[in-house]
Amino acid sequence: MVQNIKTNLPGQGDEDRKIRERMAKIKHKILVISGKGGVGKSTFAANLAYAFVADGDSAGILDIDIHGPSQGRITGIEGLQMTINPDNSIKPIEKGGVRIVTMASLLQDSDQPVIWRGPLKMKAIKQFLGDIDWGELDWLVIDSPPGTGDEPLSAVQLLPEMDGSVIITQPQDLSLLDARKTVKFSQTIGVKVLGIVENMSGFICPHCGKRTDIFKSGGGKKAAEEMKVPFLGSIPIEPAIMESGEMGKPFVWMFPDAESSKIMKEIAGKIRAELEK
Ligand SMILES: Nc1ncnc2c1ncn2[C@@H]1O[C@H](COP(=O)(O)OP(=O)(O)OP(=O)(O)O)[C@@H](O)[C@H]1O
Ligand SMILES: [Mg+2]
Repeated sequence: MVQNIKTNLPGQGDEDRKIRERMAKIKHKILVISGKGGVGKSTFAANLAYAFVADGDSAGILDIDIHGPSQGRITGIEGLQMTINPDNSIKPIEKGGVRIVTMASLLQDSDQPVIWRGPLKMKAIKQFLGDIDWGELDWLVIDSPPGTGDEPLSAVQLLPEMDGSVIITQPQDLSLLDARKTVKFSQTIGVKVLGIVENMSGFICPHCGKRTDIFKSGGGKKAAEEMKVPFLGSIPIEPAIMESGEMGKPFVWMFPDAESSKIMKEIAGKIRAELEK
């Protein structure tokens, strides 16, 4: 059981000072997490950053999924190299106004697995926070690997000022169990739950317009009510959301007026309202 994680705050060392200085220039940091894999965290995290930018804010995405980074693909920056500033800090790759940092940008070969244990992952996340020249930002959206492992723990340990978490879940009962567990994880490590998002909630047939609840629907809301945390919204299954991720053009950016983009922008609005009230 991991408790009192924040008692182990960043210390006085050079690396910790760098992190504090860089992170002081970023107004809000949000952790996107889920209990289960493949529920749409990375897709949501990317779209959330673009939704903030669509509303005139500045945003960055930090992909702390060291073993399975997907922000390179989703934001279309795969194969692009980050550049080094004269002071040896690293410039994030910028696309559509969003600054993106992912392990994928550091790998020579995207087929090569990263085989690292906890301490090395912590070190990489430290460098993502301290050595990257993020500049001034309103939002840093942090995309995590599934579950409650080293990566989100390290991020929270290094960023005691983390504003909160957004928990992604799917509508079926099996996912609810995971959503509840993830709410407890966030609360246990002292990160406020900003809310639950139900992803892949119903499918609207593009031909006849009829809605089919492939994975049921309403489970995310039920979990939020049970756990007494906000429910932020339901995003339907939409082939174009998947395709835009494959093409490297986040949905909100590509189809700003689509119904699902409106839902994602509404979710961004709720998060902003909560954190800036
Ligand atoms: N609302 C949606 N409609 C259609 N496809 C979606 C939707 N959300 C996510 N997807 C697709 O589902 C797959 C999994 O999504 P994604 O990679 O974002 O999940 P993840 O939770 O980050 O996975 P992991 O746990 O492996 O990090 C992707 O192919 C993505 O394009
Ligand atoms: Mg992911």
